Amino acid sequence: MAKHPPRLLTGIKPSGTPHIGNLVGAIRPGLSLSAQRTDAAYYFVADYHALTVIHDPKEMTRLVREIAASWLAFGLDPSKDVFYRQSAVPETFELAWVFSCVCGKGLMNRAHAYKAAVAANEEKGDADPDAGISMGLFSYPILMAADILVVAGTQVPVGQDQRQHVEIARDIATRFNATFGKNVLPIPDAIIGEDTGVLPGIDGRKMSKSYGNVIPLFGTSKQLLKVVRRIKTDSSMPGEPKDPDTTLLFQIYRHFASSEQTAAMRKEYEAGIGWKDAKDALYDVLEAKLEEPRRRYDELMQDPTTLDGILADGAEKARAVARPLLDRVRRAVGI
Ligand code: TRP
Repeated sequence: MAKHPPRLLTGIKPSGTPHIGNLVGAIRPGLSLSAQRTDAAYYFVADYHALTVIHDPKEMTRLVREIAASWLAFGLDPSKDVFYRQSAVPETFELAWVFSCVCGKGLMNRAHAYKAAVAANEEKGDADPDAGISMGLFSYPILMAADILVVAGTQVPVGQDQRQHVEIARDIATRFNATFGKNVLPIPDAIIGEDTGVLPGIDGRKMSKSYGNVIPLFGTSKQLLKVVRRIKTDSSMPGEPKDPDTTLLFQIYRHFASSEQTAAMRKEYEAGIGWKDAKDALYDVLEAKLEEPRRRYDELMQDPTTLDGILADGAEKARAVARPLLDRVRRAVGI
C-alpha cells in the first residue's frame, strides 16, 4: 500500500572498538545495500541499546564516536542517507512505552537473548534465574521495535541473531494496528544477508573483542603490521605447499584482495610461500584498503564537533518523520 513507502533502516550497536570483522560483516554489506537504492537509508547508532551493557560514561561516548566515524570513513554519505544517534530521536522512547502496553510479557519471556541469560544463570546454579538481568535487557526487543517503527522502517537488514527481534517488531506492529487502527504502522521485514561466514581472529577463533584477537580497523600502519605478524600459523617451512582453504592468513586475505590477487595468492600457497611473505602480502592488501579510510577516520575523531554535527543533522531528518508518526500514534490511542 502506498501509505508506507519502502524504507531501509538498521541499527548499529556500539559495542567495541571497530575491527575488520565489523567491516566485513556489517559496514560493507550495509553500505552496499544503500548504494543499490536512490532513496535515503536510515542508519543509527543504537546508543541506548548499548546502555544495557556499557555502564562507563567515557567508554560510551568514545564507542559511539568510534562507530559513527567508522561508517563515515568507509563511505556512508550523510547527504544521501540519514545517519543519527538513537538517543537524539526522543519519539523513539515514547513509542517504546506505547508498545510496552500492547506487547505481551510472554513475548519478551520467549526472546532469545533473555532466555540465554536465564539459562546462563541456571547453569551457574544461581538461586535467582533473573540475576543480573536488567529491565533494559528484558525489554530490549520493544525498544528495537520502536527504533524501526518510529521512522516507519519497512526493510531491516540484520544478522541472523537479530531475526527474532524483527519478528517481534512485526508482532507488535500487527497488534497495535489491530487494536488502534488499521495501517497506522507498517509491518517491517527482516533482510537477512547471505552468510559471509565469520571472519576468524588472529588466533583462529571468531574475531571478537572478548577474545582479544581482533585486527583493529584503525590505528597506525605500524600497529597493523604488528598484529598481522602475530597471526597464528603452523610450523611448515618456506617451500612446503600450504592449503589456502585451511589457512587463517588466506581467509583474511581474500576479503581484502581483488579476485585476481586472490587467485594468484592461492597459487603461491600451493607453491609453498613462506609465512613471512604471506604475512607481508596480507599486510599490503590491508594497508591499501585501510589507508584512506584511516585518514578520514582520524580527521573525524579529532573533530568531534563536525562528527556530532553530522549526527545531529541526521537526527533532525529522522525526527521530521518521527514527529508526525508519533502524532498519529497518539491520536490512535486517544492521547
Ligand atoms: N540489536 C541490534 C544489534 O545488536 C542493533 C539494533 C538496535 C537494531 N535497534 C535496531 C538493528 C533496529 C535493526 C533495527 O545488532
